Amino acid sequence: MKKDEPAQNLFEQKAPSGNKYLTMNRSHLMNRLAELSNVDSINLFRSQLGKLRDSLIQENSDSSLITLNPAEIVEYKSSVLLGQMDQMLSARTLERARYYLNRLIKSITESRISRYNDLDLNRWQEYEEIITDSLWLIEKRDNSGAHLGWYWGNFIPQIPRQLMLRYTKQGESVLDPFLGSGTTLIEGKRLGRNGIGIEINPVVAEKAKALIEKERNLKDAKTEVIVGDSRKVDYKKILSESGIKSFQLAVLHPPYFDIIKFSGLQEDLSNSQSLQDFLKNFGEVVENLTPYLDPGRFLAVVIGDKYQQGEWLPLGFYCMEEVKKRGYTLKGIIVKNFDETRAKRNQKELWRYRALVGGFYIFKHEYILLFKKGRKAI
Ligand SMILES: C[S@@+](CC[C@H](N)C(=O)[O-])C[C@H]1O[C@@H](n2cnc3c(N)ncnc32)[C@H](O)[C@@H]1O
Repeated sequence: MKKDEPAQNLFEQKAPSGNKYLTMNRSHLMNRLAELSNVDSINLFRSQLGKLRDSLIQENSDSSLITLNPAEIVEYKSSVLLGQMDQMLSARTLERARYYLNRLIKSITESRISRYNDLDLNRWQEYEEIITDSLWLIEKRDNSGAHLGWYWGNFIPQIPRQLMLRYTKQGESVLDPFLGSGTTLIEGKRLGRNGIGIEINPVVAEKAKALIEKERNLKDAKTEVIVGDSRKVDYKKILSESGIKSFQLAVLHPPYFDIIKFSGLQEDLSNSQSLQDFLKNFGEVVENLTPYLDPGRFLAVVIGDKYQQGEWLPLGFYCMEEVKKRGYTLKGIIVKNFDETRAKRNQKELWRYRALVGGFYIFKHEYILLFKKGRKAI
């Protein structure tokens, strides 16, 4: 075999698929990788690497690892680690193989944690779950645990999950001023993020509270549900009573104006008298929370549009302006698919016919607008 020929067949065993992690003895692994960096021929490199790869899979079923303390083991997503080894195996030159090897060693020995989250950028390939595209096509709602999906007008838990994973660290605090059924706080509890939720409807808030309590608290997250009007609640008092200093993320999922009337309460944004009134109320919610969100941190608005008397009202874009004029920078407009409501699904054909006759489009998307709070935000 020529020096620069790829060696695809040296290692026939396929990388285990899925999200499984390999657990390895740190010092054994580091010694083997160090030995590999001293090898001076590509053929020897490939054969030693093949053996290492082989033994890692076997070592993983070695029960002696259980007795080691966490500092003595390395955990790595198996598909990513074995994929990196495959990349080394198929490198054409020793120089290239060593480049991949050094990158792997660095990912094990050094972390590069970003400012706003717990993601280690030296291990970025392992975060397959995190969406970085502006189009989110999520097929199924997560109905696990306390996420029951009972509330008409709720959002799927994957939305706050994605936002919290990307824009908060464990132990930080999230505000949801339109709590509804508590989706954000349930998910936050899972991820070890503290959560404060404000909900105007006491009956809904009570039910949300019970569900949030049902979710197991393995990561020591504080949660608080407050019944009140988000335009006016006293955040200073709420924060001091809950022992939280400030928020690092705000997730806002307001009523889409009056599409769903959430209650008979006058302060409920879904009972706003006009579009202007709705936007004014929404703006007041943003204004009230802004002093308590740390500068440089993120605020997300989840909202869809509506038709009114034959006119498409871009509620999302109007709300975007309300946030921007309060000192926030727009960082992203994400378009997310949504399912038709059950009623519409049953009448799918009829709606399609109506759309063809009326020359309009059936809503299938909503927006997740992402903002960063500027230093001068009010
Ligand atoms: C679209 S829903 C939020 C659903 C929530 N994301 C979930 O997954 O269940 C909007 C919620 O805001 C509440 N709401 C409306 N006006 C409010 C206000 N002024 N202050 C606090 N909550 C309000 C409504 O009662 C409703 O539950």
